Amino acid sequence: MNAIDIRNKFLNYFKAHNHNIIPSAPLIPENDPSVLFTTAGMHPLVPYLLGEKHPAGTRLADYQKCLRTVDIDEVGDNRHLTFFEMLGNWSLGDYFKEDSIKYSMEFLTKELNIPIEKLSVTCFKGDNDAPRDEETARIWESVGMPKERIYFFGKDDNWWIAGDVGPCGPDTEIFYDTGKEPCSKDCNPSCGCGKYVEIWNNVFMEYYKHEDGTYTKLKQRNVDTGLGLERINMLLQGKETPFDTEIFKPVMDKLQELAKNDNISSRRIVAEHLRSSMMIIADGGKPSNIDRGYILRRLIRRMIRHLNKLGIDLGNLKDLINLNIQNLGEMYPELIENKENIINTILEERDKFVKTLENGERELQKELNKLREKNMDTLSAEEVFRLYETYGFPPEVTKEIAKENNFNVDLDTFDKLFKEHQEKSRLGSEQKFKGGLADQSEETICYHTATHLLHKALQIVLGEHATQRGSNITQERLRFDFAHPQKVTKEELDDVERIVNEQIQRDLKVTCEEMSYEDAKKSGAMGLFENKYGDRVKVYTIGDFSKEICGGPHVEHTGVLGTFKIKKEEASSAGVRRIKAILIR
Ligand code: ALA
Repeated sequence: MNAIDIRNKFLNYFKAHNHNIIPSAPLIPENDPSVLFTTAGMHPLVPYLLGEKHPAGTRLADYQKCLRTVDIDEVGDNRHLTFFEMLGNWSLGDYFKEDSIKYSMEFLTKELNIPIEKLSVTCFKGDNDAPRDEETARIWESVGMPKERIYFFGKDDNWWIAGDVGPCGPDTEIFYDTGKEPCSKDCNPSCGCGKYVEIWNNVFMEYYKHEDGTYTKLKQRNVDTGLGLERINMLLQGKETPFDTEIFKPVMDKLQELAKNDNISSRRIVAEHLRSSMMIIADGGKPSNIDRGYILRRLIRRMIRHLNKLGIDLGNLKDLINLNIQNLGEMYPELIENKENIINTILEERDKFVKTLENGERELQKELNKLREKNMDTLSAEEVFRLYETYGFPPEVTKEIAKENNFNVDLDTFDKLFKEHQEKSRLGSEQKFKGGLADQSEETICYHTATHLLHKALQIVLGEHATQRGSNITQERLRFDFAHPQKVTKEELDDVERIVNEQIQRDLKVTCEEMSYEDAKKSGAMGLFENKYGDRVKVYTIGDFSKEICGGPHVEHTGVLGTFKIKKEEASSAGVRRIKAILIR
């Protein structure tokens, strides 16, 4: 069995238990500037966990592409990954603890044939916010889990929330015993020694955590689960690390063959960062100096630095990308579809970085020599920052080189300087980040509806080719990318603005209907990409003006939008223009 078999088994199992299979959302969240990447399967489902009706029903399952960057510096050890795939099943106010646990247990022991002796579980032990989860423990016992392998822990281990605010609840985690010796007599699933590996998390999402730290009950009781595909694949194959499975092995072997100074940690970093970068680019990411683009840049640049460390000529990069596409293309066809773009983006970034490295490394070595002469062993944060600002030399590379040369880096001060810098560039690019996921304030809802009006108006003024290429909404503005080969003229922009404002003044009613994707297309509804929505979709109609496939939510009447004003029109990328606009309400 390999990863793709496990994925298929999972989806088939839940389909057979009346779940609708929905497609993976892109790694880059749409209409949600509050997080950089999709970090969990529940992320695209937040509105539905909060009570919006999902067009595919109340029982869903999918595989979701995820990226977590908190552990970026840990990649290279035997378990951390940035990109990973999460298999998940959801109940949106449908079944709760009992069925959720039964499904997990049956899938693991009957479909994947894991002996129950290998499994142990943890439950929430209770505190002032929510009671001890005895019910979950009882259900585990009823499906055959011995009492001594049911553990209770506090919020740190058994409470799940994405970020600081939002839907959340107690969870029950399922662990796989690798058979390693216990680290101590108190060895248990939460000790982190490696004997127990967490494989599946079932979150019983019935609370909402507010900004002031208080919790209230949600409208409905949901189940949100996540099963890490790379991990379960590794365990079922009896491998020590995900890098020994078919997902990474072809690239790992190739790197070993090419390496002049082999070292396993660098090979893992290259293999991991290559896969993640390719997945981000396939979903529309581009390297830059802020936010998502900066994460992508970091991944590519760190990969290149480790190729250098391995003594591998950077001319091999194109072959490595092709090898990865060959290996992973069946799991992620988007890699095949975006092959040219992936290759060009990575190779361009490589060329830029080679120049940066030459200049920056020379400067850094000069600085380290100066410190050596003075018998000092700490590189100042200001110096790390100067190398970054003046030469574009990545701070994480400075850190690594300093460490290799036995120098300390004043990280705390550096992080402070770097954060200040990022904050400035962020504000400069008008991006404001809020805590929590999928902001659904009145302002963002208005901007959603305004985006539909703008989309249609652009098609009227510029032609039908002017279709959506991207959208990003904050409480302060909308940003809309669309296909158009040249600059939009002042007259055209005035027309677009006028048409949108006319629709606002007409106070059109906004209605929502559910239908199959096919019917939606037939009805003439505009939609984004070829069926990324699943079989059932929601179609939002704005009076007689616009009809578009969309998850919502939207305002009920356009009259509340106020006055629409275009602030800026500019190029976004080749053949794609970008408009920023505001509502004055
Ligand atoms: N949302 C839960 C997690 O990511 C399932 O672990």
